[in-house]
Amino acid sequence: MIRYFLEKDFESIYSLGNELSSSFSKTNKLNEIYKDSFHRILVYEKENKVIGFLMYIELTDTVDILDIIVQKEYRNQNVASCLIDYMISDLEDTVKLITLEVRKNNNPAINLYKKFGFEIINIRKKYYANGEDGYLMGRVIER
Ligand SMILES: CC(C)(COP(=O)(O)OP(=O)(O)OC[C@H]1O[C@@H](n2cnc3c(N)ncnc32)[C@H](O)[C@@H]1OP(=O)(O)O)[C@@H](O)C(=O)NCCC(=O)NCCS
Repeated sequence: MIRYFLEKDFESIYSLGNELSSSFSKTNKLNEIYKDSFHRILVYEKENKVIGFLMYIELTDTVDILDIIVQKEYRNQNVASCLIDYMISDLEDTVKLITLEVRKNNNPAINLYKKFGFEIINIRKKYYANGEDGYLMGRVIER
């Protein structure tokens, strides 16, 4: 089941997010995100457990995907695809573009985004704290 996050999910989201980046819980204050009207987090719940989430910012005409992560045991079972499908189907009609940054060597994520029609728009040199390059990817939403 996919739904927007609730306060009861904070712990699971922090725990998954910290696998993606050790600073996740420091840089993402979920209690603030919960109240702010631009951030959205979709969670994928299975047997009462959050096994993945997708965090993004939705502005009037643009969406920026911030993080997507699926618990290791549940990868390659379409969980991330379902989260992206849900997000796209629930966007306001005014949204025209979705963007995101991804590490240049993160093939699973790059393939996932390509599957959803995202294209590499630019290289962001040394975008990540460890000096790694990133790709800016984007997808225009046709209405
Ligand atoms: C990237 C990630 C979210 C994908 O989640 P997932 O639920 O396994 O993805 P799905 O099962 O929906 O797969 C969708 C597509 O992604 C690609 N993909 C997923 N895992 C892959 C892998 N290990 N290698 C190559 N491509 C992969 C494939 O194109 C796949 O489509 P296909 O099944 O038709 O081949 C997951 O690997 C993850 O949590 N990684 C760690 C966090 C991360 O790097 N997030 C991205 C930050 S920008």
